[in-house]
Amino acid sequence: MKETEKLNITKSLKLFEEAKALIPGGVLGARKPSDFIMGEYPIFLEYGKGCRLTDVDGNEYIDFLCGYGPIILGYREEEVDDAVIQQIKNKGYCFTLTQPYQNELAKKLNELIPSAELSIFLKTGSDATTASIRIARAYTNRIKIMRCGYHGWHDWCVEMKGGIPEKLYEDVYEFHYNDLDQLEDLMKKYGDQAAAIIMTPFGHPLHEKMQTPKPGFLEGVRKLSDKYGAVLVFDEVRTCFRLKMGGAQELYGVTPDLTVLGKGMANGYPISVVAGKSDVMMAAASKLFISSTFFPNSLPYIAALKTIEIMERDKVLDNIWVKGDRFLKNIQNIIDKHGVGAELSGVAPMFFITFKQDEMNTRKGKRDDFYTQLIRKGFFFSPHHHAFISYRHSEEDLDKTAQAIDESLAYVHDKYGR
Ligand SMILES: Cc1ncc(COP(=O)(O)O)c(C=O)c1O
Repeated sequence: MKETEKLNITKSLKLFEEAKALIPGGVLGARKPSDFIMGEYPIFLEYGKGCRLTDVDGNEYIDFLCGYGPIILGYREEEVDDAVIQQIKNKGYCFTLTQPYQNELAKKLNELIPSAELSIFLKTGSDATTASIRIARAYTNRIKIMRCGYHGWHDWCVEMKGGIPEKLYEDVYEFHYNDLDQLEDLMKKYGDQAAAIIMTPFGHPLHEKMQTPKPGFLEGVRKLSDKYGAVLVFDEVRTCFRLKMGGAQELYGVTPDLTVLGKGMANGYPISVVAGKSDVMMAAASKLFISSTFFPNSLPYIAALKTIEIMERDKVLDNIWVKGDRFLKNIQNIIDKHGVGAELSGVAPMFFITFKQDEMNTRKGKRDDFYTQLIRKGFFFSPHHHAFISYRHSEEDLDKTAQAIDESLAYVHDKYGR
């Protein structure tokens, strides 16, 4: 299979040079060029619409990162943006007191999410995971935390620990997804001091294959948290309004005490939530100060209410599951045909193509070549992060993508053999 021609990303690279003199590292966090493939991926985007992105050099892509998860409908979804624009023009959104949309949204979450009796609205996923830990600690009068998965950039959970006093994370213990024995051992040691078990109910570790829960895993975690009196927090920042309206807890039938959500619920407008059972949540009313100038800013509430309305009206998640299942079956057949050590994991709304390690140590080379071919062909995936399917990915877009994956794996096959 012929190598696809390299993209012209001259303007992106020039802007990056400029950015390096203005912002430490030029671009921070998960958007930095080294998180993709240096010299191959664009660094700056100009605009997006539906499932498509256009970079500053004019290259167009079908995008599967969906803004790292918040885009559940599509970029610039008119009904959502119109609702927000009307709010700006007619009523406003940043005031001295709270507007009543918080009540409306809290009622909706209560209807949709099994554990959401009461809700607190914040702005980012990290705000909300951190608030959930503070609530759990206040409710239990305990300190220790058992955690599994990515929960954001705050002091207690970030992976890169530069600039953080050790004492801020020394009461936090990690366990692996689907390893109930490991969590049980931790709870045997520290359970009587454990304030919370916080975990993603669906396994989506960085760089690695995605994992669905083994039979009994989530139920086992629920039992351990009950046995030791620790608050069970499901971090559904990625999974709520994506796997099901009520999140992974609805899909798998295990209800936590607290749920953290964000991303998909407002189609890109910044909002996050800690929701949960009344007795636990009430600790926040009486013992804690959770406040920010921008938490009551109502634009994201308006966007969330409209996004949820559209998702219910148009059965958005049913649509994503049906077309996504068909697409993933197609991809699995393509992977089986080429046999280059590629692996497909995840479920229709969230999936990942990774490569197995082998004795020749070709994993990284195959991965980089595969994702390089895809980006050159105009398909935006990340080599390190799983993909998402949105409502605006059409069947035709997915068929084109499958064709590009087929060609890219054929290229890898020609270069490395089976
Ligand atoms: C499961 C999970 N929790 C928390 C976060 C942190 O959210 P934010 O980046 O909005 O702070 C993320 C972000 O990717 C996430 O995926």
